Amino acid sequence: MPKVTVVGAGMVGSTTAMRVAEQGLADVVLIDVDGDLARGKALDIAQSLSLTDSPSVVRGGEDYRLAEDSQVVVITAGFPRRPGMSRADLLDRNATVVREVVESVAEVAPDCAIVVVTNPLDEMSYLAWKVTGWDRRRIMGMAGLLDGSRYAYFAGRELGACPGQIQPLVLGSHGETMLPLPRFTSVGGIPLDQLLPPEKLLDLKERTREGGAEIVRLLRTGSAYYAPSACVARMVKAMLKDEGWRVVASVLLKGEYGMGDVFLGVPVVLGAGGWREVVELPLTPSERRELEECARLVRERMAELDAWLADS
Ligand code: 2OP
Repeated sequence: MPKVTVVGAGMVGSTTAMRVAEQGLADVVLIDVDGDLARGKALDIAQSLSLTDSPSVVRGGEDYRLAEDSQVVVITAGFPRRPGMSRADLLDRNATVVREVVESVAEVAPDCAIVVVTNPLDEMSYLAWKVTGWDRRRIMGMAGLLDGSRYAYFAGRELGACPGQIQPLVLGSHGETMLPLPRFTSVGGIPLDQLLPPEKLLDLKERTREGGAEIVRLLRTGSAYYAPSACVARMVKAMLKDEGWRVVASVLLKGEYGMGDVFLGVPVVLGAGGWREVVELPLTPSERRELEECARLVRERMAELDAWLADS
């Protein structure tokens, strides 16, 4: 049985652990600075598995040795947004957490693939790559799939179509400048921009960009977790089963899309041990400009992280 470790036993982390375990994809380890919280949630998940016929073993605690030789490590540790905050507002607080987590993970699971979920997503993924110095194909951030699932949901509501029939595509950063692409989003094979007028497409774009904040406002004390954990579990499955599954993830670009040295959400092919390749789409000049704006903002914060790393 492969091993998947989830760091952070908050709502995103624990629901991710539950989804991976319920599907029997792997043995699961849940790690948190609050070892009892991780142990308690792991026990609770483990005690549910006889009902789903899952053979997964689930353990929890604060000790990173539990994560030894994991194939995939999911990082959810960090502070969530509060109402009124942008994801970028979390940069300083979460950089310290993510750096410590990644250093510990690298010691015990030197061959794993890392999926970052902590916000700000693109920047924390960059930090994970920078701290490990690993092959870029082993580090990715989960966001494009989540933003896409929100886009599919809103588009489905608008069209009266079932979201599962919608193949969404949202590129760019996991922030207010993310780029839902109606030309590359299909509903039963038909591009979304042939089904809805431009003003509706604009509404859907804005609604998707605000999708996470809307839930933060409603929950008041944290951010979304059911959809994020479903997305992470799906990506974990694609890697463990070496599926060649195509998904948008935040990865380090090295010339793809004409951009270098920036973490950005683009379509990649997932397989054993990480992602295999970036899929390049023929973007229009205006789509390209929007993607470049995402890159500019992410790069600014990557530079802040570089300065912080150099100082510490
Ligand atoms: C979201 O968009 C948590 O960033 C995550 O809900």
